Amino acid sequence: MQIRYSVDYADISRKAALIIAAQVQIKPHSVLGLATGSTPIGTYKELIRFHHEEDLDFSKVKSVNLDEYYGLGPDHEQSYHYFMRQNFFDHINIHLENTHVPDGLTADVSKTCAEYDAMVASLGGTDIQLLGIGDNGHIAFNEPHSFFFANTHLVDLNEETIKANARFFASENEVPRQAITMGMRSILSAKLILLLASGPKKAAAIGQMIHGPVDPQLPASILQLHPNVMVIADREALALA
Ligand code: GLP
Repeated sequence: MQIRYSVDYADISRKAALIIAAQVQIKPHSVLGLATGSTPIGTYKELIRFHHEEDLDFSKVKSVNLDEYYGLGPDHEQSYHYFMRQNFFDHINIHLENTHVPDGLTADVSKTCAEYDAMVASLGGTDIQLLGIGDNGHIAFNEPHSFFFANTHLVDLNEETIKANARFFASENEVPRQAITMGMRSILSAKLILLLASGPKKAAAIGQMIHGPVDPQLPASILQLHPNVMVIADREALALA
């Protein structure tokens, strides 16, 4: 794992965006694995700026998102479909038909999950997978568990995650209790994984991810098995690293 110390959140965002921009310039048909949560928003802002000021071209890019709340449609303001349009897709020249986010309203969850994995495989995996990290060490919505899930699946969110994400909803009661999340197999199929973390709340998870055992109780620890992971984080998040 390569650790890139950053002075602050703006620096994290700039570093991450520069790498993604370089990837898109070198390979216009890149497949980008994208994440939600507050951490990647600054990276998306920088990429939007590169698009407007430096003509960074997303017209051939395909994207695959990590997860979606189960039960939320694309027009729900807290859905990850909506998040991606609002924070990124609507401000660049990516074609929406080239973007993929799991269907949170599917009536056939197992078919949707199998098709999502098949779609990621058919794209040849992602060139870069952008990741945040949950305070409990989850990535995407792969929660601490007794084993590492391999495939895209429906997951029950645990209390800690529901509480952490309640800040985006009117109340904790409105946070969906389940989500469809890409599994570790598709996440690990990325050629490069860029994990971003900012602030002291992430320090315990980041410390364990880097130095702890590979243990599904700390889902991000599986990244120790990937050959090409770059952690871009500030000193608060790296306090225990
Ligand atoms: C959610 C998302 C994760 C994200 C995490 C942390 O649980 N499913 O992909 O990494 O939130 O979010 P934040 O960056 O807001 O701390």
